[in-house]
Amino acid sequence: MDTLTAIATRRSTRVYKPEQISDSQLQTVLAAGWASPVGHGAYDELYISVVQNPKILENFAEYCGQAFGNTKYNPFYGAPTLIVISAKPKDDGQMVYIADVGCILENMQLAATDIGLGSVYLWALLNRIPQSPQFVASLELPEGFKPVSALALGYPAKPLEKRSFADIKPERIATKIIK
Ligand SMILES: Cc1cc2nc3c(=O)[nH]c(=O)nc-3n(C[C@H](O)[C@H](O)[C@H](O)COP(=O)(O)O)c2cc1C
Repeated sequence: MDTLTAIATRRSTRVYKPEQISDSQLQTVLAAGWASPVGHGAYDELYISVVQNPKILENFAEYCGQAFGNTKYNPFYGAPTLIVISAKPKDDGQMVYIADVGCILENMQLAATDIGLGSVYLWALLNRIPQSPQFVASLELPEGFKPVSALALGYPAKPLEKRSFADIKPERIATKIIK
C-alpha cells in the first residue's frame, strides 16, 4: 500500500479478533514508531512497552471497567496487543512529549494499516482514569517515566475498507489557505 492510500485508509478499529498478531507484524509497527520524529531528537526520554500477556490485559481491563463504572466496557476493545508509550516529562512545562507520543502512535497506526492490522489511539485509557498501580508496575518502566498514551493493536474483526483522498470529506478540519 502506498503512503497516501495508508493515510486515507486508516480508521480507528474498535472490534478485534482474539488472535494475536505475528512477531514480524509487531516488529513492523514498532519500526514505524522508532522512525518517528521527536522534539529535540530526545528519543531517550520516550519508552515503548508492548503488553501481550493476556492475564495482565484482562486484569487491566477489569480495573478500567470498574474505574469507568461499567464492567462491560473494555477501553482497549479487547485488542490482544496494547502498546503503551511513556515519557520522562521535563520540569520546563513544555509538554513536547505529548506531541512526540502523537507522532509515534500515528506512525504506528499507518504501518498497522499498511499491513492490514487494526488499531486505535487511546487517550482516555491512561488519562481519564486513575492509572492502575499494578498495571503500571507490570510495564517495568525506568525511573522517572510515566505512561502517556496507548495504541490498541490486532486483527480487525472486519478488514479496513481501502480508501483514497477522494473519499475524505474536504476540509474535515477547517482550513484557510492564505496567499
Ligand atoms: C489524541 C487522540 C486520542 C484518542 N483517544 C481515544 C480514546 O481514548 N478512545 C477511543 O476509542 N478513540 C480515541 N481516539 C480515536 C478518535 O476518536 C478517532 O481518531 C477520531 O474519532 C476519528 O476517527 P478515525 O480514527 O476512525 O478516522 C483518539 C484519537 C486521538 C488522535
